[in-house]
Formats: sequence, C-alpha cells, structure tokens
Amino acid sequence: MSAAAGLFLATPAAATDKGPGAPGIGDSYFPEHGNGGYDARHYSLTLDYQPGTDLLRGKTTIVATATQHLTRFNLDFLLKVDSVKVNGRAATFARSGLHELEITPPRALVRGTPFIVEVTYADTPSKVPVPDETGGFTPWIATADGALALGQPQVAWWWFPSNDHPLDKATYDITITVPKGTQAISNGVKVGERTRGDRTTSTWRMDKPMATYLATLFVGQLDVRQGRSSGGLPVTTAYSKNLGRYEAAAKESVERTPEIVDWLADRFGRYPFHSMGGSVTSALPGFALETQTQPVYDPRFFSGGPDTYVVVHENAHQWFGDSVAVKDWKHIWLNEGFATYAEWIWSEKLGEGTAAEVADFFYDQYPAGDPFWQVKPGDPGAADLFHNATYYRGGMTLQALRTEVGDAAFWSIIRTWARAKAHGNAETAEFVALAERISGKQLDALFDTWLFTPGKPATSPTGATPTAAAKSAAVAPASIAKIEKVHELLKHRKP
Ligand code: TRP
Ligand code: ZN
Repeated sequence: MSAAAGLFLATPAAATDKGPGAPGIGDSYFPEHGNGGYDARHYSLTLDYQPGTDLLRGKTTIVATATQHLTRFNLDFLLKVDSVKVNGRAATFARSGLHELEITPPRALVRGTPFIVEVTYADTPSKVPVPDETGGFTPWIATADGALALGQPQVAWWWFPSNDHPLDKATYDITITVPKGTQAISNGVKVGERTRGDRTTSTWRMDKPMATYLATLFVGQLDVRQGRSSGGLPVTTAYSKNLGRYEAAAKESVERTPEIVDWLADRFGRYPFHSMGGSVTSALPGFALETQTQPVYDPRFFSGGPDTYVVVHENAHQWFGDSVAVKDWKHIWLNEGFATYAEWIWSEKLGEGTAAEVADFFYDQYPAGDPFWQVKPGDPGAADLFHNATYYRGGMTLQALRTEVGDAAFWSIIRTWARAKAHGNAETAEFVALAERISGKQLDALFDTWLFTPGKPATSPTGATPTAAAKSAAVAPASIAKIEKVHELLKHRKP
C-alpha cells in the first residue's frame, strides 16, 4: 500500500502558505493543470453563443474558498479576457505559462474564507491557438449549426476559466443563450428556458460535484427528447439533425440509456446522479466521453447498426470516473479499466461471451512481445493515458481480482468502492486496500503484476496458462468485434 494513501490533501499547499497560489494542483502527468491555494465550490456560467461566427461571450462566476493566505491565484483559461473582479472589485490579471490566467485581487484573501471571482470574456474558441501538450487537438469544435465542447483531460480552457483538475470538483449552473430555433444541451437538468426576441436562453444545473473536464456544451440544430427513467429520473437525449445515415442506429442505441443505467445500478449500486441522458453529435469528435449525466457520442460508433457497448461504457463511467474521480491522472485505469469491465459483463448478460472469456481473449490476443504489455495501466504515462492497455489490461486486472477473491467478495468490493468514494476522488492504493480488507487476502502481488509490471503476466485473468488461454480463445466470443470497434474509436483522440 502506498504510504501516501490517506495523506493526500484536497488542495496541495503551495511552496509557502502566504503569497501566490501554485500554478498547478500537483498532478504527476500534468503539473500545470489546476492550481493551488483555493478550492472552487460552485461555477456559474452565463454564455452567449453565435453559431457560424463561433463567437462565444461569457461571464463565469466562481465561488471558492482560500486554502492559504493568497496574494495572487491562477485560473486555467485560453480565451481573451475582458475583465476580472474578485469580491466585486476590479482585479488585475496577466497571462503566464501555457494556459494560466494570474489574478491579483486588490487585497489578499484570507485562508479559510470564501471569495467570488468573476471573469468576463469573449473569443472565437475554435481559432484559439492550441498548446503543444494537447497534441494539436482542439476540444472545441465549431460546426455550421453550433459547437461542441468535449475533451479529456483538457477542454475547459476553451470555454470557461477554472481550477482545471478532477481533484477540485464543484457544482454548476450553466446558462446559455443561442439563436431561437437552436438548442443547447449541458449537464444535469434544464431548470429554465425562455425566448426573448430572436434569442433563447436555457439554464442547466448540475447539483452534484463535477470535475471540470466532465462539463460539456452541445449547441446545434438538435432533436431533443425529455422523458423519465423507470425510477423517475429526468432523461435528456439529444441528436444532431445532421446525423444522416447514422441517425436511426444512434437513436436506437442511446434511447436505451435508462434501461442500461438501471442494469448497471443493479451491479454497481445506486446511480450517483439526479438525471441521465446522452447526446450524439455530427461534429465527429472521434470518440465518446462520459460527460456527467450526459455522455456525448461520435455517430460513427453506430456505423454498423445499433451498438449498446459504448452506451454501457460511458454510463459505467458515471460511477467510475465521474462520481469516483481520479486524484491524479496516473490513476486513469480506475476509470477506463472499470468502464471496460462493464462492457465485458454486458457481453455476458447478452449471451455474447462471459466477462472471463472476454478477458482471457484479450490476454491471449496480445503475444508476450507485443508493445501492449509494456504500458503499465497503473501508471501509463501522459502520452499513453488512453492506450489500449489502460482499457483492456485495466479490465483484465479486475477479472484477475475476481478470479482471486471470488464473485461475492468481488462485487462487494466494487459496490463498496462506488459508495465509499461517491462524489469524491480516489487513487489506486485505496482500491487495493479496500479489496484486501473486504477479501481478507494479501493482494499486493496481484495488483503489482497486473498494474505496475511491464510484460505479459504468466497466467491469464482467469488463472489459466497461456496455452490453456489460447485454446479457449480459439473461438472469439461474439462480443469481441463490437468491443474492438468501440475501442478503435475511443483510443484515437484526433478526428
Ligand atoms: N474517456 C473516453 C472514454 O473512454 C475516451 C477518451 C480518450 C477521450 N481520450 C479522449 C474523449 C479525449 C475525449 C477526448 O469514453
Ligand atoms: Zn472510457
């Protein structure tokens, strides 16, 4: 067990506890992401968007608490800023680093006290130069009829100033004005809408803590449907009107969201949010993302007909990734390994191969010399954050755990994890500790082998020898082609 478990501070202290807040929150892969010195509690976004010209005008108000005596603090943001106020008084601001907005309030903020930051801005996000670290990828996509904000780990920089790291979750109100006849979708529940003249304003509310990268904005000519799940939760589904040949299959798949969420809740425990849904965009982002309560899908997931595996994957993230979020990006397998394992139990439920068979299939599919086995899912590195190993070897890790502790302990571990860490942040060492406590077994070696040791483990996720695993994998489970199709898209970050 890592000695750091339990010692992790919600906001790491800056080098000094009096003075400027740190320009990063302390992530091991992305040292400049997030900031130190304060804790954001609530974001209130008031946006106005003009499709076609891609002009975004906005005011973001952040309610935060200073965690140190603060003479200056940073937000992460790329758009052109007009003015900044702190506690209602004009503050000075400057740019530094790749995406830092340095704010100096007229008087220092006192440790432990709340403060309000108001940033007013206007820009064309799709034209903002993209920092190298994103690999040239722009997570704000302007379309003829609207725009889509979708990216991981970077996306907020293109539409609202924030403490941009999963460690600093907050609640949100997102108010967005668009031309009448255009629809806008964000996270949570639409709590109001009105049309004045030729503009329509809607307000979305996310009442549970949300990581910045899970906030989304989807604007366009949309077919929006609002309903209720069997448990009475509001369901919003939204489809671009330009889905063309993907439309029917996309709708048939995403309309199954409430049924899939209910099925997942039977395995993982109570669904953590107050609404659910899904959006299918014509912007072709090249992937899907587990944006909180409202996953967004590239229509090409549905190019071969309806597909529920990707819907299962993104909704499994609502428990693992969204509610239980990473403390540091290096723990990404806690998101992707779990969402991948959800696909494998879905395969079992559909009679398309058991989770154990799927796990052994992927184990067998990569020969010992394949570079796949060189990526450690427990610490893949920034460049390989979304490598297949994060997903498949992460999923195999859970099957190996299940094999070792048995079904009863395994499901107890999964459900306890979801409940104990709900709406918070977690790290791998804590999962290992929980698995050991519930199973009563020493599991360090198992997790070391599957998560932290390069090379192909000597036995398969079900404990079979490579030869035996090869034999049973000779006939691929029926789900494999569908699962591989999902991951073919998920691992590519660029359109
Ligand atoms: N986390 C997403 C998923 O597994 C996939 C993903 C990887 C992604 N990299 C991304 C999404 C970049 C958006 C941007 O469902
Ligand atoms: Zn995922």
